[in-house]
Amino acid sequence: MGVAADHSSKQASVSAMLAKRVSVPAARARRLIVMGSTGSIGVNTLKVVEHLNTIAADDTSKIKVVGLAAGRSAQMLIDQAKRFGVQAVAIADASQAETLRQALPGVTVYAGPDASLELVEQSDATDVTAAIVGSAGLPGTLAAIRKGLTIGLANKETLVAAGPLVTPLVRSCGARVIPVDSEHSAIFQCLNDYARLRSGEAIKRVVLTASGGPFRTVDKQTMDNATVEQALDHPTWDMGPKITIDSSTMMNKALEIIEAHWLFGLPADKIEVIIHPQSMVHSFVEFADNSVLAQLGPPDMKTPIQYALSYPARPTGCSEAMDWTTLSTLVFEQPDHDKFGSLKLAYKVIRAGGTAGAIFNAANEAAVAAFLEKKIRFGRIVELVAEALDGLEPRAVDSLETVMGADRQARAFVEQRIEGA
Ligand SMILES: NC(=O)c1ccc[n+]([C@@H]2O[C@H](COP(=O)([O-])OP(=O)(O)OC[C@H]3O[C@@H](n4cnc5c(N)ncnc54)[C@H](OP(=O)(O)O)[C@@H]3O)[C@@H](O)[C@H]2O)c1
Repeated sequence: MGVAADHSSKQASVSAMLAKRVSVPAARARRLIVMGSTGSIGVNTLKVVEHLNTIAADDTSKIKVVGLAAGRSAQMLIDQAKRFGVQAVAIADASQAETLRQALPGVTVYAGPDASLELVEQSDATDVTAAIVGSAGLPGTLAAIRKGLTIGLANKETLVAAGPLVTPLVRSCGARVIPVDSEHSAIFQCLNDYARLRSGEAIKRVVLTASGGPFRTVDKQTMDNATVEQALDHPTWDMGPKITIDSSTMMNKALEIIEAHWLFGLPADKIEVIIHPQSMVHSFVEFADNSVLAQLGPPDMKTPIQYALSYPARPTGCSEAMDWTTLSTLVFEQPDHDKFGSLKLAYKVIRAGGTAGAIFNAANEAAVAAFLEKKIRFGRIVELVAEALDGLEPRAVDSLETVMGADRQARAFVEQRIEGA
C-alpha cells in the first residue's frame, strides 16, 4: 500500500513535469511556404504551425506562413490563405487563377504547372515544407534547395526520381533537408548524435518498419484482384490516395528504401524492411556494436512534421501521445518478398542508378493513377513498374531535364502497355 502510494505520488510529480509546456525557444524569424497545403501532410503541417505559434516564447519565434501551393483545391487554398494571411499562393490548375485573384485581393497568385516553382523562387521564405504528391513536387523542392532553404521533406518522390541531382545540390547550396516521412524522421533522430559516423562502419544497418498495409494477411491471388476501395482501406495511417495505394502494394516501402539510400548515404545492403503492423516503432538503426536505437510513437504524422519544423528543439507536441497502459506487445514479421515484388525492385533501382529512380517512380505514379481510374487490376501496378524498369535503359543524371525526360518516357511506356492490353 505504502509503496503504491509512493509510486503514485512520484508518478503525479513526473506527470506534472511532463505536463509543463515546453515552448518553442526564441529563434530567427522563420517564413514558411507549405507546398501541397491542401493535402493530408499540408493540412497537418498547418495544424502544427498553429500549435507551435500558440506556445511560442515570443513573437519572433513564431512561424509566419508566407506562401501556400496546391494542385486544384481552390476553395480550400483560399480558406487557408485567409486564415494565415499569406502573401502569395500557387495553384497548378490554371483555370482556377481568376477565382483565387478575386477571392484574395492583394495576394500574389501564381498559376499553371510551374506555379509552385515560381512561388518559391519569388518568395523571401526561409523554410519550405515539401508535401506535393509525386514528381510534380520536384521543381519547387529543387528551387528551395538552390536557394539554400531549410526543407521539411515529405515528398519522397523527389529523392527517388532525382537523388543523384538533389544530394550534391543540397551540399553545394547549403540547404538543409529534414525528413518528414515517419520512418526517415525516426532514423534521422536515431542518427542525430552519430552524424559524423554516418558514412563509416558504425552503422550495421537501418531497418524501415512497414505496417504491411491492408493485404498483409491475404494470399497473393486475392490481393492481385483487390478493389480500389479495399486498397484504400489502410489499417493504421490516414493518408492521401496515392501513398495509400503505395502502402498496399508496398511500393511506399520500396520508395522509402531508395529515399533512405539518398538521405543517409547508405548502400542497398544496409537498408532492410520489417513488418510491424502496429506502426508504433517508426524505424530503427542497428550499430556495429549490436546496439539498436529506435524511435516510437503512435501513428500520427504531426509528430515528425513538428520535429522537422522545430528541429533541433523539442517543444510540447500536439500529436497523439503513447499510451503505455494499453501497449503490451510489439509485433514484428519478416516481409514476403515474393508476394510484395515491389521491395526487390527498390534494390534493383539503387544498383542500376542514374535515371532508374525516375523511371521507377513515374511508372508507379502512372500505374497507380490507372488503378484508381479502374483501368487495371491491382496486381498490374507492380508488374507494370517492373516492365518499365526492364524495358527502359537508365541514363546518367546530369540535369533536371534528363530526370523529367525519363519520367515522361516511363509514363508513356506504362500508358502504351495499358492501351495495348
Ligand atoms: N500522408 C502521409 O501520411 C504521408 C506520410 C509520409 C510521406 N508522405 C508523402 O507526402 C507527400 C504528400 O502526401 P499526402 O498524403 O499529403 O498527399 P495528398 O493528400 O494527396 O496531397 C497532395 C498535395 O499535393 C498537391 N498537388 C498535387 N499535384 C500538384 C501539382 N501539380 N502542383 C502543386 N500541388 C499539387 C495537392 O493539391 P490538391 O489537393 O489541391 O490537388 C495536395 O495539396 C507524398 O509525397 C507522400 O508520399 C505522406
